[in-house]
Amino acid sequence: MKKSFGFLLATVVATLLGAVSANAQVKVPDDINALLTKYTCFACHRADTRLVGPAYVDVAKKGYKNERIVELIYKPEPANWPGYPPMAPMTQVPKEDALKLAVWINSLAPKTAPAKAAATKKKS
Ligand code: HEC
Repeated sequence: MKKSFGFLLATVVATLLGAVSANAQVKVPDDINALLTKYTCFACHRADTRLVGPAYVDVAKKGYKNERIVELIYKPEPANWPGYPPMAPMTQVPKEDALKLAVWINSLAPKTAPAKAAATKKKS
């Protein structure tokens, strides 16, 4: 009896953990993956976990405009991320590619936030 309860508990915990980690995983599209590799962003960033720099999902939560993210790639403002080392300016990234990365980063924002922002905009 005791043994089967333990097994049941373990199964429940494993299922919950599985659900959580599946949820946290961000699938990076191939073209974006190629850019992040080419421009060495992956050396310091992951889509969904903190590395040297913040996770892109956390950058997305800041609600920057795409153009603002492009600016920050060229001219980082470390004051935006207390507790992190400063990022080196990545001026070698062509604007077109920087914009692609910015659009993708913003696509990681929680789904409810943009809808809310749009609703607020309509009202005012
Ligand atoms: C050497 C490590 C390193 C590399 C390489 C790097 N970053 Fe960063 N990045 C950081 C750190 C650390 C921060 C947080 C501190 C800061 O903004 O200076 C950051 C912050 C950011 C932010 C948030 C800016 C803000 O002010 O909110 C964006 C967007 C970003 N990086 C994109 C990129 C992209 C795109 C690339 C590749 C072209 C890249 N990073 C390459 C370390 C790095």
